[in-house]
Amino acid sequence: MNEREINRKTNDMKINNLYDLAGDKNGRGREVVYRHCQEVANYALVLAKLYANKTGIKLDEELIYTGAMVHDIGCLSTKTEKGKAVTHGEDGYWWLKSQEVDEKIARFCLSHVGTGFSREEAIEKGLNSDLNHLPVTTEEIIVAYADKFFSKSGKKHTAEEIEEKMKEYGEESFKRWEEMKGLFECLGI
Ligand SMILES: [Fe+2]
Repeated sequence: MNEREINRKTNDMKINNLYDLAGDKNGRGREVVYRHCQEVANYALVLAKLYANKTGIKLDEELIYTGAMVHDIGCLSTKTEKGKAVTHGEDGYWWLKSQEVDEKIARFCLSHVGTGFSREEAIEKGLNSDLNHLPVTTEEIIVAYADKFFSKSGKKHTAEEIEEKMKEYGEESFKRWEEMKGLFECLGI
């Protein structure tokens, strides 16, 4: 096993431990959330490699992997009021912080819902507006983008379906989606 493989194995053990601790407060099913996160992580890593080849900017792949693997842990860790799915990002963020997980990792929960939320949107949605709900780093943007393609039912969303969904979130969300698409569509995937 090389160093990278050892790191990944250690990381996977930590991630599994977090899933054990999170439980399943909303009855979403650990397997469902875990499988979805794996799909997002795999796609995000493909995007990261293509992005690095195209731009010469090497991204932190282990951070992308870890962030993608825990981005939806709020669906399990915190009992969410029905119809308030929008809070699962913030729930996951606070829960990971309570487990002393690094801010850099916890932020993937906060920044992946839709295309993230501006301060005004956070206020409107009843979220904590002192937190930054927008994806900021390229690693965060890649995970938020990759997440949009995979449903938890195992279905892959088309670009048209994603666009419709982003329009439902509002004009700003849709605009950010267009920007994200511009970043990654040129990778030819
Ligand atoms: Fe997700």
